[in-house]
Amino acid sequence: MKKGILILAIASVLLNIALVYMFILKGATIESNDIRINIAMTESNREFVMDEMRVFLESIKDINEGILNNDPEQVIKASEISGGSVIDHAPPGLLKTLPVGFKQLGFSTHDLFDEIAKNAKENFNPKQTQRQLNSLLYNCTVCHQSFKIQTNIK
Ligand code: HEC
Repeated sequence: MKKGILILAIASVLLNIALVYMFILKGATIESNDIRINIAMTESNREFVMDEMRVFLESIKDINEGILNNDPEQVIKASEISGGSVIDHAPPGLLKTLPVGFKQLGFSTHDLFDEIAKNAKENFNPKQTQRQLNSLLYNCTVCHQSFKIQTNIK
């Protein structure tokens, strides 16, 4: 009897681990022909993510320009566009298709933009902004080396 309960308990724990892996950690991923993890999502969700990416690149360009112009306002405006508030606009269903590593890198990227804006507001120091921009660019490159996105679901 006791043994039966123990086996059930172990089976339940294993099932939970499998479910957490499938639904929380793994996201919707499929076979990839290179070393990047391939995320599957709908065409419209991919459009949303790619749109965000292009805004990221614009922010990076404008932050850099703000550093060169010694202009905190330009830096603040450029970083806020890509800050954490953008996440609130994510289409429903997108977050659960993303593997945990992608989400972590994505959220920390938005946070870094917010930090750049915060520091530029409180005490603008171009050298520090440049250092923060460098950490940000590190996030961009790490994620691009690790993930790609395919649309094979409607
Ligand atoms: C959390 C992961 C992640 C982060 C962080 C990230 N990207 Fe991306 N980005 C991607 C993926 C995935 C693609 C699509 C690659 C593919 O499918 O081949 C992409 C594509 C892009 C594209 C192409 C957009 C288009 O219209 O095709 C640009 C530009 C881009 N990223 C810029 C950036 C910049 C700049 C940063 C840093 C501020 C950044 N990304 C940070 C994951 C990320």
